[in-house]
Amino acid sequence: MTVTAPPLANDLLLRALAREPVPRTPVWIMRQAGRYLPEYRAVREQAGDFMSLCRNTELACEVTLQPLRRYALDAAILFSDILTIPDALGLGLYFETGEGPKFRKPLRSAADIRRLAPVDIETKLRYVFDAVARIRKALAGSVPLIGFAGSPWTVATYMVEGRSSREFARILGLARDEPALADRLMATLAHKTTDYLNAQIESGAQAIMLFDTWGGVLEGVDYQRFSLGPMEQVLGGLKRRHDERPVPVILFTKGAGERLSVMAATGCDALGVDWTTSLAEARRLTGDRVALQGNVDPATLTESPQRIRAAVAAALESYGRGPGHVFNLGHGVTPDVDPEHLGVLIDAVHEMSPAYHGDTAGGDDSA
Ligand code: CP3
Repeated sequence: MTVTAPPLANDLLLRALAREPVPRTPVWIMRQAGRYLPEYRAVREQAGDFMSLCRNTELACEVTLQPLRRYALDAAILFSDILTIPDALGLGLYFETGEGPKFRKPLRSAADIRRLAPVDIETKLRYVFDAVARIRKALAGSVPLIGFAGSPWTVATYMVEGRSSREFARILGLARDEPALADRLMATLAHKTTDYLNAQIESGAQAIMLFDTWGGVLEGVDYQRFSLGPMEQVLGGLKRRHDERPVPVILFTKGAGERLSVMAATGCDALGVDWTTSLAEARRLTGDRVALQGNVDPATLTESPQRIRAAVAAALESYGRGPGHVFNLGHGVTPDVDPEHLGVLIDAVHEMSPAYHGDTAGGDDSA
């Protein structure tokens, strides 16, 4: 039996995702636990490699908390990866230093795809749910915990290509030449992703983010069919309330651009925005139907503290007044970033954002 959790000490993220008034803009950072932090590199070394770190409940919890000890962040994000599902499906995930993820057994045939549906992954992914529960306990109600998964399309690109890709020749070939088989793969992944995220919610994840990193390579009807449609299927199956509270869902398609408009109609609570679309334009495209998260260019963090502060001021000004903004980068923080620079960005959000909230100027949404 679950005992109703006490209220969160800091629920700014959940309030902003619900587009409720907040005294300042909440901030968290994609890949806030990662290689730019020396304490992360030390724990990864202790674990041996990245996947061993993900599978070690105690160490996964430790690296999740590391950025919260350094910075005044308003959320924790589960330390894991979007490729845990294909790994549990038997594709054999491994990482080669400097080369990103690879699969020993990528999908190469219709039979490979058909074999996936009956595989039970819940037991194999127990380490993820255990990490969620342990992190929630360690957070002790300080800030909310975000759980996540990849979108079916994005996860499928890695499963079919067998590795990170720039051209996506195989997966785009599958979508073009055998669309029914591609549909089948997306349906299987949508189903598994829904169960996986619901188990994260039951274990304690208080908000969910779907990473559709590669949806932007699809155009028009193909985007609807292979990227957005399967995400809608996941959204439709998620437990949107747990522990007597809403569980908000954030969708993030890198390079979404004009697609933000249809994404806002899916029933999600918020959209991630990258730096190729301004927050003002994103707000226009979505008509204030959803909250917006983003969108500072991660490369800004390699610039001077003055330029970082200017980028924070510009993002706040671009979103404008009123609720519904969650401050973040437009993609993950890169390994070359000086940790102090990230501190400059987060402190600047705390310092500058209160001016965009409260009831000055009538408290309306005009900039
Ligand atoms: O944001 C967080 O702090 C939570 C943890 C998280 C990781 N990966 C940890 C990780 C999240 C949310 C992800 C998502 C993820 N993983 C995505 C979608 C978001 C995005 O960045 O576009 C994708 C495409 C992946 C697949 C993946 N995992 C790649 C391409 C790589 C290699 C990237 C690199 O920088 O070398 C990974 C490994 C990975 N996942 C690392 C981390 C911290 C680096 C591993 C290491 O070397 O320690």
